[in-house]
Formats: sequence, C-alpha cells, structure tokens
Amino acid sequence: MQRTKIVDALKSTAFGTDVNIKGWVRTRRGNKNVSFVALNDGSTIHNIQIVIDLSKFEEEYLKPITTGACISVTGKLVESQGKGQNVEVQAENVHIYGGADPETYPLQKKGHTLEFLREIAHLRPRTNTFGAVFRIRHHMAIAIHKFFHDRGFFYFHTPIITASDAEGAGQMFQVTTLDLNNVPKTENGEVDFSEDFFGRHANLTVSGQLEGELAAMALGAIYTFGPTFRAENSNTPRHLSEFWMIEPEVAFYEIEENMQLAQEFIQYCVQWALDNCEDDLKFLNDMYDKELIERLKFVVENDFKRLTYTEGIKILEEAVANGHKFEYRVGWGVDLQSEHERYLVEKHFKKPVILTDYPQEIKAFYMKLNEDGKTVRAMDVLFPKIGEIIGGSQREEDYEKLKTRAASMGVPVKDIWWYLDTRRFGTAPHSGFGLGFERLLLFVTGMANIRDVIPFPRTPHNAEF
Ligand code: 4AD
Ligand code: MG
Repeated sequence: MQRTKIVDALKSTAFGTDVNIKGWVRTRRGNKNVSFVALNDGSTIHNIQIVIDLSKFEEEYLKPITTGACISVTGKLVESQGKGQNVEVQAENVHIYGGADPETYPLQKKGHTLEFLREIAHLRPRTNTFGAVFRIRHHMAIAIHKFFHDRGFFYFHTPIITASDAEGAGQMFQVTTLDLNNVPKTENGEVDFSEDFFGRHANLTVSGQLEGELAAMALGAIYTFGPTFRAENSNTPRHLSEFWMIEPEVAFYEIEENMQLAQEFIQYCVQWALDNCEDDLKFLNDMYDKELIERLKFVVENDFKRLTYTEGIKILEEAVANGHKFEYRVGWGVDLQSEHERYLVEKHFKKPVILTDYPQEIKAFYMKLNEDGKTVRAMDVLFPKIGEIIGGSQREEDYEKLKTRAASMGVPVKDIWWYLDTRRFGTAPHSGFGLGFERLLLFVTGMANIRDVIPFPRTPHNAEF
C-alpha cells in the first residue's frame, strides 16, 4: 500500500479509507485497553494520532513503540473525537522498523534546551523546533532562487577553493595536502607552496564576489548561492565559520538600484515565509518569540530607512551625549559594532536601515570611492535583533583607481590580475551585495543563536558532526 505523508493525511476527509503512515514516535500514552501514539514524519510540524486497540496485538510485540521508535501503520482514517486534531488512524497493522531504547534515547518528551540539542546535532532535526527551522530553511532557499530567476538573474557557481582573499580581511582557512609534519621549505626558509597540490597557496573562499563580478560583466545579472568560510575567531550568536551566502552582482547598477534590489529581495523572502511556512512560524512564534510574525509583516510592509554612515554616527553621538552607554566607542571612522547598528534600527528608526558611504579605511578594496575622496559607495542593510544582514557596494570600475586602492590596502595585486582585467577590457559600472543566509534565517525564525538555524554548525572548536 502506498504511503501517505502526514501533512496530506491531516488534510484528508476520506474517512473510512485505509491509509499507510510511516514515521517516528513522539509520544505514546494510554491505558491497558488502548494506546495513543503521536507520530511525526517530518512533512509537517503536526503529529497524527494513531489509536491502537491493545486487544488486537501481542503486548510484547508493541513494546518497542516508545519515543523515538520508527513504525509503519496501516489502518482506517477516521474523524477524531479528541481535541486538537481532525483525523486519526485506527491501527490494523503495525510494523516496527526500529526501536529506540528509552534508557538511552537522548530526546525525551520534556523540552530540552537548545544548547543541549546542539550536543546531539545528529538527532535535533527530530524535534519540533528544528523540524520547523529546517523546513523554513528549505523554503527560503527556494524563495531566493525564485526571486532571482523571475527577474532574469543567472545562478552562477563560483569556486570553493580559491587563491585570492576577496575581502582582504585575512580570515581564510588554508587548503593544503602538504605533510604538516614535514613541510617543504624554500631557500629563505618559507613554506614552499610550489610543492603543494595546486602548486600555490590556496584557501577556502570567503566570498564568491570577485568571480561573480566576472560573470556579471558578461551575463549582465547573476547571483551566487553557496558556502563560504571565515576563520575569524568570533564566538558570537551571529558568526559561523562556515555559512551560506547569496551574492547578486549586476552590470550597470548604481548603488541606489542596488539598495532597491536588496530591500525587495529581503521583503520577497519574508513574504514567502509568511505565505508558505505558516504552521512552522506559528509554532516558533508561540514557543520563542511572541512578536515574530508581527515583525515579519512589519518588514514586508515598510520601506527601509536610508542614510549615510556620517548621519548614522551623528545619531549615535547624540545618543551618547544623552547618556546612552555603548560598550564600544562611537566616532567618525570607527567600524560599527552590532550594538551601534541595533541602536539605529531598534531604538532610533524602529525599522530596517540601509547605511551607505562608509569611510574607505573600514571597507573592502573593491568599493567605489566617492568624490569626497574619503568615503566609499558601500551599503550595509541593518536589521532588528541581528545588526548587519547584508553587506554590499557599488564597485570601483576604474582600473587605475582600483589598482591603487588594492595596493594601498595591502591586497596582493599580482594575485588578482584576472579580476583587474575586467576593468581593462570593457569595464562598466556595476554593483552587488552579499546576504548571509543564516542571518536571514535568524530573522525569519526568530531564533537567537545562529548555530540553531544551520543543520551542522561550524564554529571555533566545534566540528563534531
Ligand atoms: O559583509 P560581507 O563580508 O561582504 C562580502 O563578503 C561581500 N563580498 C558581499 C558582496 O558585496 N558580494 O558579508 C556579507 C554578509 C554579511 O552581511 C553577513 O550577513 C554575512 O555575510 N556574514 C556572516 N554570516 C555568518 N557568519 C559570519 N562569520 C559572517 N560573515 C559575514
Ligand atoms: Mg560586512
């Protein structure tokens, strides 16, 4: 008999027909005559109730049906008498695929902390919370592809192994097959990477942008969507060592169009979640964050506030003058900390903010220099509870200016000759940005820690699963 997914069975009104349901036992309760099993198969946050008439089965046979066990049940779909569900299944046939010893099964009925669940990352998808989060994660990935595809952007694959440091921030994981116990050295006593696998020094990419720009200068509008890696030692609720990034890059876009794209993109994704993840969002709203759905709706309905970094600093300085205490110093030239970003978003404007025109010293080498000679055409999108969710810019399209800026920021110019070549041959104004996928998920799910929106978080000292 063909299996029916629980998400479909719960919507069915074909009462009296036989169905086959397979899934994992969430709970089993009852008395000496009847057992009620709450079964979940991951297709929805909701369980289906299986009613087992104990007189029809050997007691011993049913014994392994405990929390965590996997079973297949065939029986009649009937209208439920109980509260909280419309349908249930009266078991006629029960097959047990695998028991889960109640003595050792780590997930019990009682709520576990998110921290504890991170220690059993192989089982946490079986919980309501992570089922909801990972279903939403899937829907967000679909929304992202749909958004760009519908607008004529091409999905472009950039390499994971690269030789360049796109952000110039020196936060890269090295990729090598050299024997670390016996590293070949040059005459100067330095590591001889010519003996390494690629014949040169190589790393995991921190961003697909540089390669993405090459594609934008040919295909017009592209986006990347892939894993990126940062070896920064920051143990915060917003940083991962391995995270996914979406990076659109568009020829002929100036920064204003780039900002508009960023706003429409996020709003589209959030609306998609509201339209397609209703049950999971309701669950997260009730469990973790009573204002979640309200906040999502607010973001969809309101334009983001746009202002310059310089204007932002003024607001922060006024806040300090009025007695607000920040941990980090405020002043023109400083790199904004999350506490500053969140002050602007949550306290001052009470809506998402796009901050532009940052001092060139604190931004990457590829950003276009403004006429003032001090600021660059950068744009960071700042979100409530998150801080920076998007970083992007208009790119410097002038060959000489780009080369000079790269050199002055210590970027090894000879390694990026292939990138600079786009400015030698048919250069054009262009812009793009990067959205941190997990930061978007933090916002959409209302989870507080970025480790809880990715199936297998990678952070300093943590890569067990
Ligand atoms: O601001 P970032 O470093 O910008 C870039 O990498 C550009 N190449 C993007 C572009 O213009 N194409 O990173 C972009 C976004 C951040 O705004 C943040 O959302 C996310 O990536 N991000 C991280 N997310 C999780 N963990 C980390 N360690 C992250 N670092 C950046
Ligand atoms: Mg940034």
